[in-house]
Amino acid sequence: MGAPAQAVILAAGRGTRMKSARAKVLHQALGVPLLEHVLRSVQALRLDPITVVVGHQAEAVEAAFAGRGLRFVRQEPPRGTGHALQVAKEDIAAHADRTALVVNGDVPLLRPETLASLLKVHQTSRAAATLLTVDLDDPGAYGRVLRGTDGQVRAIVEARDASEAERQVREINAGIYAFDVPSLLPLLAGLQPQNAQGEYYLTDVIGLLRTSGRSVHALKAADPVEALGVNTMGELSHVSRLLREARVASLMAEGVVFEDPQTTHVGLDVTAEPDAVIRPFTILEGRTHVAAGAVVGPYARLVDMRIGPGAQVLDHCFLRESVVEAGAVVGPFAHLRPASHVGARAKVGNFVELKNTRLGEGSKAPHLSYLGDSTIGPKVNVGAGTITCNYDGHTKSPTHIEEGAFVGSNATLVAPVTVGAGAYVGAGSVITEDVPAGALALGRGRQVVKPGWAEERVRAREEAKSSKR
Ligand code: UD1
Ligand code: CA
Repeated sequence: MGAPAQAVILAAGRGTRMKSARAKVLHQALGVPLLEHVLRSVQALRLDPITVVVGHQAEAVEAAFAGRGLRFVRQEPPRGTGHALQVAKEDIAAHADRTALVVNGDVPLLRPETLASLLKVHQTSRAAATLLTVDLDDPGAYGRVLRGTDGQVRAIVEARDASEAERQVREINAGIYAFDVPSLLPLLAGLQPQNAQGEYYLTDVIGLLRTSGRSVHALKAADPVEALGVNTMGELSHVSRLLREARVASLMAEGVVFEDPQTTHVGLDVTAEPDAVIRPFTILEGRTHVAAGAVVGPYARLVDMRIGPGAQVLDHCFLRESVVEAGAVVGPFAHLRPASHVGARAKVGNFVELKNTRLGEGSKAPHLSYLGDSTIGPKVNVGAGTITCNYDGHTKSPTHIEEGAFVGSNATLVAPVTVGAGAYVGAGSVITEDVPAGALALGRGRQVVKPGWAEERVRAREEAKSSKR
């Protein structure tokens, strides 16, 4: 890397065009805030310090990015991108010898490689400022880059302030700049809000630098999507789709099978191994990892899950913050709540919910069960409809089912309770006391059989009728 540089990320704007109560930079793409995308690109370059200008919903933005080694500067109220830099002036001046990389907080497709090239071009040319531009077929509301007859950047004009001729310019300002700090700072004070929006425009600095005889360079990004800013919900969904396609493509390049990329959602931090198969309409979120040969979906949603090699997550599962070990089968229609662990080759069948529960290796809970705060050993059979009563309205209590135990269908295990190794629990039992290893426990009413009862009933009715007549 070249000479040291600092970064300033502009994230104070109201995001009026989003029509949302939430700060624009906190809106999510691929499951993380827009600002996170920008921040990761910036952080990949080891810039120091990284200052974030916050204003609209400053507390929420600061809270979302606390502990990330950022310096926050408040711009209250936000009066434009130029004003945003004015409020960060002292922070920037504290490192006047370092190039200031200034980045709009709403450009999530920006790649770190592009930022690195911008810095390199800037530092080798010794320009006062270098900006990133792209050519767009539909330049819309972006600021237009005006060049002189010599081809040099002359100024930037915002679409709303541009003449009809200027609006025809297809080269736009991406909102990403490198500045020589001693050249930048004196000009910030001179910005005037004489424009359609009544704001202090950072873009005016470019024209001011040129009229004061300083050089301004431009780097044109090869891929125009990198400059896409998010200003509306429509643009948010557009960049989200592009980010998703890129993420899925990179996982496919690593050997992951996506049967239908169009209907598959993958979060920014999702990882998978070669020959993992992601079936249609599947949503992988958070830090989910899918190991080699595992098959997930269709119609599954996984949040912060670890899926082991060769495991299967069948149709319509919702699984979160849990582990499914190698060769296990989960679903269809299963629900894993946080801190659950499905052991190797274990089976969790339809309409089974696990919460904070370990299901041992090779154990099975195939149908209609709730298992909460439970530790279930290996080779256990949990019969259909088994319920752990882990909550008495005040406290949660644990259930232990030891190796090889057999719990009959529709058992109710009132925690705290232990079913010992190899023990049997009769179907329909309500178990309130520990069952010793190897024992059979029955906790249900005894069956009563009344022979001929039905016939007797019919006869009694007919007698009653004839006596009325
Ligand atoms: C800006 C540029 C435009 C460029 C476009 C690229 C200006 C005047 N215009 O327009 O030339 O083509 O970006 O996407 O800079 N912000 C603040 N404080 C403020 C206002 C904005 O921190 O007072 C932040 C916003 O949170 C946002 C960024 O600056 O992250 C850009 O602001 P936005 O209002 O989206 O600018 P554009 O109109 O898109
Ligand atoms: Ca913008």
